[in-house]
Amino acid sequence: MTKLSVNINKIATIRNARGGDLPNVLKAAIDCERFGAEGITVHPRPDERHITYQDARDIKPAISVEFNIEGNPVKNFIDLVLEVKPHQVTLVPDAPDAITSNAGWDTIKNESFLKEVITEFKNNGIRTSIFIDANEKMIRNAVKTGADRIELYTESYAKDYPKNKEAAIKDFIIAANAANELGLGINAGHDLDLNNLKYFAQNIPGLLEVSIGHALISDALYLGLENTVQMYLRELKI
Ligand code: PXP
Repeated sequence: MTKLSVNINKIATIRNARGGDLPNVLKAAIDCERFGAEGITVHPRPDERHITYQDARDIKPAISVEFNIEGNPVKNFIDLVLEVKPHQVTLVPDAPDAITSNAGWDTIKNESFLKEVITEFKNNGIRTSIFIDANEKMIRNAVKTGADRIELYTESYAKDYPKNKEAAIKDFIIAANAANELGLGINAGHDLDLNNLKYFAQNIPGLLEVSIGHALISDALYLGLENTVQMYLRELKI
């Protein structure tokens, strides 16, 4: 069964708009767990404009579900992850000023860099995942980095889903089959929502985890956080 990890960056974005502690990010993490989420994801960016490094430190001991920290492995990020020791780190090649992650790794060009960083995380008992496009060549090379998992970058799937869902998912199935064959675990995320999630989960073999933030937190404005988490969980029960 596919696990739901809730990305709570948007809660921090609202909090930071006023500089106080409302809404409380730690409470949101604890509540997501209470409402059934099987993981919590945070994506601290170098300027800490959403989740802060301190948020990541505070959340780890407050939850018992899987904690996933994602981000670009620059020095401060690596230090934070080694200090907090989440269950999983997801490496993302996002530029500091990117609004959101907008590309997967080129696992050929970055093979030796990724291998070095991944080795350090794995030596510290942290599972590693790398954000990657649904590109078979990049996935076949990902195995050389030593990553435990890949996270499929689903923006193109989400964008194309309303036009033609079979065409939208085609490359993701090929990518997942390659990953399964190579023994890489499969996560996925970006722009997944209540419309497109079920079809993705039903058609991607071996999908272990999805991390969802923007749509889920937006839905929670209308439906409430508890309801929303449960509605997403229901889409994953296949
Ligand atoms: N995975 C990665 C690597 C991300 O950067 C993000 C967005 O921060 C997500 C998943 C979740 O995407 P969304 O917020 O669109 O659900």
